[in-house]
Amino acid sequence: KQVLSVASEAVPLVKTGGLADVVGALPSALAGQGWQMRVMLPAYPGLLAALGKTEIVWQDGALFGGPAALHLGKHGGVEVLALEAAHLYDREGGPYAGPHGDYWDNAERFAALCWAAAAVARDGAGDWRPDVVHAHDWQGALAPAYLRYWGTNVPTVLTIHNIAFQGRVGTDKIGALRLPYEACHPGGYEFWGDVSMLKAGLTTADAITTVSPRYAEELMRAEYGQGLEGVMVARAGALTGILNGIDDTVWNPEADPECAPFSATKQAGKAKNRKALLEEFQMDPELSGPLMVLVSRLTPQKGIDLLPAAAEALVEAGGGLALLGSGDLWAEDMVRGLAARFPGRVSVKIGYDEGLSHRMFAGGDAVLVPSRFEPCGLTQLYGLRYGCVPLVAAVGGLADTVIGATPATLAANAATGVVFHPVDALGLRQAVRQLCALYADRKTWGAMVRRGMKADLGWGASAARYAALYDRLLAA
Ligand code: ADP
Ligand code: GLC
Repeated sequence: KQVLSVASEAVPLVKTGGLADVVGALPSALAGQGWQMRVMLPAYPGLLAALGKTEIVWQDGALFGGPAALHLGKHGGVEVLALEAAHLYDREGGPYAGPHGDYWDNAERFAALCWAAAAVARDGAGDWRPDVVHAHDWQGALAPAYLRYWGTNVPTVLTIHNIAFQGRVGTDKIGALRLPYEACHPGGYEFWGDVSMLKAGLTTADAITTVSPRYAEELMRAEYGQGLEGVMVARAGALTGILNGIDDTVWNPEADPECAPFSATKQAGKAKNRKALLEEFQMDPELSGPLMVLVSRLTPQKGIDLLPAAAEALVEAGGGLALLGSGDLWAEDMVRGLAARFPGRVSVKIGYDEGLSHRMFAGGDAVLVPSRFEPCGLTQLYGLRYGCVPLVAAVGGLADTVIGATPATLAANAATGVVFHPVDALGLRQAVRQLCALYADRKTWGAMVRRGMKADLGWGASAARYAALYDRLLAA
């Protein structure tokens, strides 16, 4: 059985966030479940070279303004379909933006990807045709939409990784996006007088999933639905939450080239990594409190505005904060200001650095994730796996994956972290104090660290749920 995954990023070829980790991990996770997954991506600069030898399996002389060729190649055991279309994807810069901001034609760029995916699902590419199409976020959302508009009966799944990004453009683009005018109404892709590419997918996909059960429920409420809560309620019967897992081949403290190896039972390596991390961040070598880390995009979603409160409480308790991230300028400025205010205790690296992120989970005592909303979140999972206790906001996948310390969960030997609510400065300050108190109680802390490290965070259970969903759609 074959499934075509359609997305804008996938590890290790191209990554800006957790979407890439998930899209990159699914194919091997599903292989054990009887589903062969091919991943379709735009051929950004360098991507074809990374694939090496490829074979052209589909072509279109006029795909949204220029010629396109679909290359089948292999990378790290994953079969990749790279859509070469120089007029859309051959750009200096990242997948979504260049040095001067977002590309003006992102809607067309990803509509073209979806068009090609839908065409492959309908007509096949070479001797391959998928039984199911699995699209991700707004960049993939038009794939199920085109198939529905064409009247093609290939079952489709759309996964929402973050409903804040919707692919919303003016109705002047209806023609350019090859959308049918008949579907431009509130029950179709129309959204407050605009076109919503995500909504086009949400109203046409056979099944909708999101990346945690809690976020699936949140999506139906105005606080989290970003205006699409009504659509989500209307499609509640088709919506399920399936938790993300982590890729054990990439995130394993016993075999991570970035750090001294350690495990739940052998913690000596962890202490070494902590020392090295304090050095790398040029922090006080003798912290009496916990060394907290944060690895994140610096945007309002991630609760970055709450960091001053966290830093103050942490420093007061003898701890330190090492931060790696990049994003909004106000946030970068603000965290640099914190480092200046607390020299030796708060240290910041602005940028994107995969290797450093591994060393941070490996050396940190705790990882902070104060998100205002979080569909799943991966850094708390990496923290659990690496004995870096998560302190998280009680939202979305964070609430689903961390068991917060309370008298009851501690007595039951179940707590794996600290969970706080409401998500505001006072709530976070209090949570940091609680974490520092737990840290000071070495026995309780050690037990919590080991519990997190032993938790099953792999893809097994979730891959089985995706496979069961595909099977159900195929049988319908
Ligand atoms: P989101 O996808 O919303 O950004 P996730 O927690 O799902 O949030 O995934 C973020 C991913 O990106 C994680 O793998 C995290 O380690 C990584 N990441 C985020 N910022 C950086 C950074 N500055 N350097 C390295 N990795 C980062
Ligand atoms: C999105 C979400 C994040 C999730 C990731 C992968 O980027 O913001 O919470 O973990 O997708 O599903």
